[in-house]
Amino acid sequence: MKKLTAKEAYALLIDGIIDDEKDLEREKNKWIRHCLYVGMAAERIAQKLNIDSDWAKALGYVHDIGRRIDHFNHPLEGYKYMCAKGYVDEARVCLTHSFIDNDISLTAGGGPKRRETYDFINDYLEKHPYDIYDNIIQMCDLFCSENGFTTVEHRLLDITERKGAYPNSYEHYQKMLELQNRLEQKMHCSLYDLFPEIGEDKILDIPTINKELLNLIKNPQKIKRMDIYEKNLEKC
Ligand SMILES: [Fe+2]
Repeated sequence: MKKLTAKEAYALLIDGIIDDEKDLEREKNKWIRHCLYVGMAAERIAQKLNIDSDWAKALGYVHDIGRRIDHFNHPLEGYKYMCAKGYVDEARVCLTHSFIDNDISLTAGGGPKRRETYDFINDYLEKHPYDIYDNIIQMCDLFCSENGFTTVEHRLLDITERKGAYPNSYEHYQKMLELQNRLEQKMHCSLYDLFPEIGEDKILDIPTINKELLNLIKNPQKIKRMDIYEKNLEKC
């Protein structure tokens, strides 16, 4: 089947959700803004690596498409949604973006709770070694919020405050930084050289944010919203 273009991916992403700019500004649609930033960032990294940047952008746009169905189970829902549309090659990023290094335990929020979901994803990850596009989308997911580009540390602090800290959080964080390092070696530049929009102040702030983040990871009881998150998980 023909590769999904970025233009087609954009249409698929916003279909039935975004009609005008106001829809894009709505709180409930902030995940779409995040997808748009991930797409833009993926395109730029792919251009730097001299690989298919339109494909990378398309993958960035659809990586969280499962959120139109269910937030907490969005990787699997997104995978099923894309497969049902006939986009099997693109469906993989819906699953892979949430797990670093083909490892189901290297994820935010503690990982899938339902047995069937866990088994399906674990089996899929074992059978599909990551390629550079999987890695690019994972990376972009880690520095693109719904408001634009930020540092990996700022983004992870935000995710940890919302989703909570778990026994795997420290290792997940370390592996993310290793992924960043590997990509930077491939690009022959720092991520932040490629994204000057992030700004010097945020980059200088990394050590402080890192300290705050490690404090949360090591003291999960400090996370105020963790109880809410756990309640939501029970509904999944
Ligand atoms: Fe995402």
